[in-house]
Amino acid sequence: MKNEMVYMTGLFGHPVEHSMSPLMHNRAFHHLQLPYYYAAFDVHPERVAEAVHAVRALGFRGVNVTIPHKIEVMSYLDELDEEARLIGAVNVINNENGRLIGYNTDGAGYVESLTRETGLSLSEQHAVIVGAGGAARAIAVSLARKGVQSMTIVNRTTPKAEELAGLISPFIHATAAPMERMAEVLQDGTLLINTTSVGMTPHEDQSPVVREWLHERLVVSDLVYNPQETRLLREAKQQGCIIHSGVGMLVHQGALAFEMWTGVPAPVELMYQTVLEGLKKKNE
Ligand code: ATR
Repeated sequence: MKNEMVYMTGLFGHPVEHSMSPLMHNRAFHHLQLPYYYAAFDVHPERVAEAVHAVRALGFRGVNVTIPHKIEVMSYLDELDEEARLIGAVNVINNENGRLIGYNTDGAGYVESLTRETGLSLSEQHAVIVGAGGAARAIAVSLARKGVQSMTIVNRTTPKAEELAGLISPFIHATAAPMERMAEVLQDGTLLINTTSVGMTPHEDQSPVVREWLHERLVVSDLVYNPQETRLLREAKQQGCIIHSGVGMLVHQGALAFEMWTGVPAPVELMYQTVLEGLKKKNE
């Protein structure tokens, strides 16, 4: 790079060394010859405010925010986008002429990936979400605002499922159910989304759902992307379901941030390939 201006972007998290985002974004910037750079910053929980002030002071174009700072960071921003406010977490900060605006592209990125990869029509879906943590919240809010038919949240801790169902019930018909009712709930479902870590390496032998409960009217989506084909997805395929992997959410939440920062359509295919290569290398 010559002596020209470079727009800084990056990631605030703790830890950050395993993140795929620097590779994904830098390759995309390079591919489109955009004068941008993405760096990962390990921000100690006590220094979140200072880190956000640095975005202003140093004139960063924007940053991603990840665990454990997605909630804390909201206190130091100038404005929150409506979806981020509803989700209660921020994963993208955009520097809009010195004003820092907080967005959440996790849910929208997920929905983009789901509809692109499976071709399903959201308005016909009866979604069943397993889990009620941060990821479930982002996805439930996005799916609700985009208008799925109905949603049932199933969670090990039922009050958390009830709280999430309450949050989205102004938008669509939403209910909560305990794990024991999963089989019954799935009978009427058309879209099953696992947002828990069940099935993640080193527990690849686990699945949040009993195989016999899966039927061919279901699209089955798993946020776990390590392994890329979880036990849930493998069994869903055997039962005749269309399957969707969590890698797409990672790529599309990033693509939406990329577009905010650069104003240019993201090279989604390249970003997808980069993440797949990165995951493969990690497992070698
Ligand atoms: P994330 O940000 O990835 O969503 P989180 O906010 O910690 O992570 O939420 C994790 C979700 O996975 C929760 O819904 C959790 O259930 P509880 O609310 O009962 O804690 C769920 N989860 C995690 N491990 C689980 C397990 N072994 N069985 C069932 N649910 C599990």
